[in-house]
Amino acid sequence: MPFEAARFPIQRPRRLRSHPKLRDLVRENRLTVDDLIYPLFIYHGRDLKREIASMPGQYQLSLDRLGEMVAQVVELKIPGVLLFGIPEHKDATGSRASDDAGIVQEATRLIKRQAPELLVITDVCFCEYTDHGHCGPLIHATDGRVDVDNDATLPLLADQAVSHARAGADVVAPSGMMDGMVGAIRKGLDAAGFTGVPVLSYAAKFASAYYGPFRDAAESTPAFGDRRTYQMDAANGDEALREVAIDLAEGADMVMVKPALAYLDIARRIKETFEVPLAAYNVSGEYAMVKAAAANGWIDERRVVLETLTGFKRAGIDIILTYHSLDVARWLKEG
Ligand code: PBG
Ligand code: ZN
Repeated sequence: MPFEAARFPIQRPRRLRSHPKLRDLVRENRLTVDDLIYPLFIYHGRDLKREIASMPGQYQLSLDRLGEMVAQVVELKIPGVLLFGIPEHKDATGSRASDDAGIVQEATRLIKRQAPELLVITDVCFCEYTDHGHCGPLIHATDGRVDVDNDATLPLLADQAVSHARAGADVVAPSGMMDGMVGAIRKGLDAAGFTGVPVLSYAAKFASAYYGPFRDAAESTPAFGDRRTYQMDAANGDEALREVAIDLAEGADMVMVKPALAYLDIARRIKETFEVPLAAYNVSGEYAMVKAAAANGWIDERRVVLETLTGFKRAGIDIILTYHSLDVARWLKEG
């Protein structure tokens, strides 16, 4: 419906801003701890809690140091974690990703034993597991170009997702932007008896410079080239809707847009078009910028973060994956 100012004779919007309780009453969106998912980097080895240089306050954690982190997450009532694994051994196909004794599988079992009520979402991809750092095995074309082999990646993705489900993952989240990935994973899960495990698809994931710090943390920087043949072009919005439509048709239960800040228009369009549960990934570079400015005393970190995440809610985002989760949960508790 077109907006007609003439139909709204009250011309003093400040009336509703005059009292803090009135502002509370008319507030349209609220950020709550229930909206948050906290990403964790599980690293091979023992007794390791290594701060990531470009992500102050975030760590690579070994399995034996995971428990203390999980206790904090539970204490703060954050509903879930998103797991990334950095294995000791990498190879051309990322075979360790689907190992039932692999790092994410072990972490999942550990968490479900310690805190069964905490949601474990696993990132399903190969970039941390391949020696070349791409999101699947490579194919060499006759013209000399090298690319990820889309269709060879699909059954491997299904194997990895099933392995995560077998370890107890509550949700699997494929992030590689392979065509057909959701369908392949859904089929694989169903065939293995995991019909109840939902798929959160990184449906609209853009080839972004904001992933830089993550690649330090996950040691997943591509050894050559970039991810532009599988991740989306930052200039495209209509295409993001097509990506979401495909993933929903293939059985995605929830969809994600990533990164968040520069893509809130995409989030809004997805929400309005499809009316499905929508997640956004507030990625590593977005986190790093805030932390750097805050460390210099240039911004008020708490206010900036709460304003940004409230903006995500306003854009139509239901689920926020963010490295700020622990801080935000504390701030919201303090009120
Ligand atoms: C790749 C993947 C990426 C992130 C998570 N999984 C991006 C990439 O390396 O292309 C980025 C998350 C972040 O920046 O916080 N499957
Ligand atoms: Zn990947």
